[in-house]
Amino acid sequence: MDLQKKDEKYIWHPYTHQKNRLPAIPIVRGEKSTLIDENGNQYIDAVSSWWVNIHGHGNKFIAKKIYEQAKKLQQVIFTGFTHAPAVELAEKLLKVLPGNFSKIFYSDNGSTATEVALKIAIQYWSNVGDLKRNKILAFHNSYHGDTFGAMSVSERGIYTFAFQDKLFEVIFIDTPTGENLGQLKDEIEKYKNEIACIIYEPLLQGAGGMLMYQPEDLNELLHFLKEEKIICIADEVLTGFYRVGKFFAGNYMKEKSDIICLSKALTGGTMALGVTACTQEIYDAFVSDDKTKTLFHGHSFTANPLACTAALASLELIKKDKCLKSIENIMLHHQKFHKQLLTFKENNIIKNIRKTGTIIAFEICTSEKDDYLNNISNSFTPFCMKRGVYLRSMGNTIYIMPPYCITSKELKKIYGVILEFLEGG
Ligand SMILES: Cc1ncc(COP(=O)(O)O)c(C=O)c1O
Repeated sequence: MDLQKKDEKYIWHPYTHQKNRLPAIPIVRGEKSTLIDENGNQYIDAVSSWWVNIHGHGNKFIAKKIYEQAKKLQQVIFTGFTHAPAVELAEKLLKVLPGNFSKIFYSDNGSTATEVALKIAIQYWSNVGDLKRNKILAFHNSYHGDTFGAMSVSERGIYTFAFQDKLFEVIFIDTPTGENLGQLKDEIEKYKNEIACIIYEPLLQGAGGMLMYQPEDLNELLHFLKEEKIICIADEVLTGFYRVGKFFAGNYMKEKSDIICLSKALTGGTMALGVTACTQEIYDAFVSDDKTKTLFHGHSFTANPLACTAALASLELIKKDKCLKSIENIMLHHQKFHKQLLTFKENNIIKNIRKTGTIIAFEICTSEKDDYLNNISNSFTPFCMKRGVYLRSMGNTIYIMPPYCITSKELKKIYGVILEFLEGG
């Protein structure tokens, strides 16, 4: 039986409608921005393999570092033991994170990074004896992961529908705009002494549909929340590591979060790793003679040495001029593409063109509802694949989020394929 048939027999793929699903394409190799299948077909990975891969596939520098580490230490229990990659990575991250962070807690992925953040924030108030502070704030259209805590603070919609009565209570508010800030503050004022924390994706709500909002508005809201001593949790799982043009989305704002979550591009997109960082003040609430104040949380692969090594290697690559220039190049090209898209907007073929950093997004106008179930995605991805580009729309939301090593020629090819689709194929 060939690989595709065996896959169909044994494997259940994520976020995949199982009835009439298309066979999964066996990928045998990745080279920079390109994925290569078993028949030698090439696809430009225009979504960085679910937003993780920033330095390209098959990166030899990262691979070598992982191999060298693998010969020394591949895994060790992280209670009572430590190792150089974990310590070095924590030290390096704390120097660059946007905020006054002093402790790093490792986990496995983006969902666990946000779960840890929520547990730290909730338990903080319990540890300091303020049991009234038990409400949680989050934004409409947010996405913080697929585990139960992360789902609870995410938009109650199609992704969480089946579990709605099992999710904990959260107060959802709109993302801030110049117009609604007063209203948001009034809403928060009602519960202000009862709110433990807010969790938010700064400036970009990815899985909610690549929705963008402005730093000055978020800054003002954060200022208000911080005055009310509400713990601010920035979920930078997607926005970190230059995705939105600066090192972190937090670098666009004066007001900093108290906790930050990282994953995805943290290891350059090579290995699974999550980070939750917090301030000294928050950490201190867990240092006590009372053992019940311990953070009872950990994963078998916490701070996996190979993953930490990959993250260190990725950080080295990010700091190089070449990487920063490539990011600028993507931003410049997106700007030109934006102009090309305007005619399609004027002709009501698309709407809501927006961009931030290395991401550009818009919606295709259809007679169906604008959401994840919009059927345009059934034809869009195969259309692009046939032309050598991998793009995965979210319903009728089309977006490009390429690896930073992408060339101008490859970007132009992606744009060309999208324009051809908009012209009616
Ligand atoms: C902002 C944000 N937080 C959390 C997650 C969950 O990360 P993971 O898929 O690694 O669990 C995602 C994933 O898309 C995300 O975009």
